[in-house]
Amino acid sequence: CGIVGYVGPRDSQAILISGLARLEYRGYDSAGIAVVDRDGALEMRKRAGKLQVLRDDLAAHPMPDGTTGIGHTRWATHGGPTDANAHPHLADDDKLAVIHNGIIENFAELKADLVSLGYTFRSETDTEVAAVLLGHEYRASGDLVTAFRAVVSRLEGAFTLLAMHQDEPGLVVGARRNSPLVIGLGEGENFLASDVAAFVEHTRHALAIGQDQIVAITPAGVEVTDFDGVPVEASPFEVVWDASAAEKGGWPSFMAKEVSEEPEAVANTIRGRVHPGAEGGEVVIPELDGLDELFVGIRHIIVIACGTAAYAGQTGAYAIEQWTRIPVSVELAHEFRYRDPVIGDDTLVVSISQSGETMDTLMAVKYAHEKGAKTLSICNTQGATIPRESDAVIYTHAGPEVAVASTKAFVAQITALYLLALHVGRVRGVLSAAESADHVRELEAIPAKIQRVLDEEQAHIEQFSHWMADTQSVLFLGRHVGYPVALEGALKLKEISYIHAEGFAAGELKHGPIALIEPGQPVFVIVPSPRESAELHKKVVSNIQEIRARGARVIVVAEEGDAAVLPFADEVLRIPLAGPFFEPLLAVVPLHIFAMGLANAKGLDVDQPRNLAKSVTVE
Ligand code: G6P
Repeated sequence: CGIVGYVGPRDSQAILISGLARLEYRGYDSAGIAVVDRDGALEMRKRAGKLQVLRDDLAAHPMPDGTTGIGHTRWATHGGPTDANAHPHLADDDKLAVIHNGIIENFAELKADLVSLGYTFRSETDTEVAAVLLGHEYRASGDLVTAFRAVVSRLEGAFTLLAMHQDEPGLVVGARRNSPLVIGLGEGENFLASDVAAFVEHTRHALAIGQDQIVAITPAGVEVTDFDGVPVEASPFEVVWDASAAEKGGWPSFMAKEVSEEPEAVANTIRGRVHPGAEGGEVVIPELDGLDELFVGIRHIIVIACGTAAYAGQTGAYAIEQWTRIPVSVELAHEFRYRDPVIGDDTLVVSISQSGETMDTLMAVKYAHEKGAKTLSICNTQGATIPRESDAVIYTHAGPEVAVASTKAFVAQITALYLLALHVGRVRGVLSAAESADHVRELEAIPAKIQRVLDEEQAHIEQFSHWMADTQSVLFLGRHVGYPVALEGALKLKEISYIHAEGFAAGELKHGPIALIEPGQPVFVIVPSPRESAELHKKVVSNIQEIRARGARVIVVAEEGDAAVLPFADEVLRIPLAGPFFEPLLAVVPLHIFAMGLANAKGLDVDQPRNLAKSVTVE
């Protein structure tokens, strides 16, 4: 869910709504705002559906404005996406409003206590329990900060909570436990939000809040304490990107803009991390300076992530193992966490997360840390929770990614993994300076090659994706590094076009999935390079023949000049030549374009697909 709070001299409604627009990627099942109006009364409006529904409602029936306010955009957990379940939630006397992200695990017990005291509830949410409890505590102390402290100490689970009371205008209080919250520092005004995107158009000065901390903002200043009220220092940081980076800027969708930014996402992630060295290409990662001991004595690397980030991990794993000669396994964060894995100080756990807030991944990192493993995160969001909980971080510099389906972050994540692999390979003496320089040259050539795919294939792919608008199911096949690319192609299609899609290892085809092939079934095949992997190439061409013989409609992604695929392909998508580990950075691009083209052809909202949120901050 997305959270924003404002105190200052300006009318807050417009500030809250534009903040929510920038946070809508965190959930868009419902949205709501509350303000203390100029007569000192609490006003609230909330509506099921996307933010636009709330906007229209406020335009049709304006609500008195005020200078203190909170706003929320929801991804439903407890209770369906209805008006009643939308946030804010009010205390029983309607004087106090609360918004919340996360899950309050002991809400049933707290609710039972409140029911026994005679309180009643208007929604099914865990949040309303916090609101009513806060109202109850406020009666006892008459002070919002005191009451808030008493409440958050009783909550279990992960949460960000914001509250305000009509009798204390000019004050918003917030708390965080395992869920994101940052402070934006303005001139005579201050902000609270799940993410800097919500306030970056007003200020780039930010403060990060630690776990289990409470913050109170007024127009005059901010005060941060722990849950017992002991003051703590919050760490200041400057937001490096400006608000326009998170704007559509003439593109039909954020996804279209972000796919077009794939070349620069790779280039920016490499920038500043390659030095000439002895052979003309040595990876030097400034963030890892002085941290070589992290890689000493490592016998096992485990890559953990969810969704697209996990497929980036699966792709990068081949190169990491090859270049470092350390065994690598890749696991979904939520599976890793709950199976008592064998890890210790000889394990390096590499987490990958675009947002740096995915709760499943965060919990897995914390668990690995408790078990004594070393932790390194690959993350696209400055100051996010996962890098803060890790021993080291390599930031991807893809820029803000807004569309729910991850695209430019995926190629940036693979790039960062390759930089890591080259660095560790050199630190451990596995790679020579000359080998490292060769790989660096390959990597540095990738942005221009992605650009060629975009320039030369985009129109063709969009055209045939339109012809395929009625397709019921699409399969994706790949081998070696092409296998995770197939999985990513299938995920992207599911996420935004709602078409059933599966990715398979091409070699596995004959062991089951081939039963799915019937005349007309579209199958994408990621073909390995005949120059770099002649053996594998032959095998994949045989796989193509097997499905073709059963009537499949074959769309191949193959390197320029590969003529062997031509007799068996209905469509050929060309990618420039690249070294064996680098093909995925090119082969995935047509699949991203295809998923987007098909969703557009079906008239769907590619940026905000149903049921999903970009950053899932619950387990
Ligand atoms: C959600 C999104 C996916 C994303 C995954 C991991 O499930 O819908 O698109 O890949 O989270 O997100 P992260 O921010 O950790 O990379």
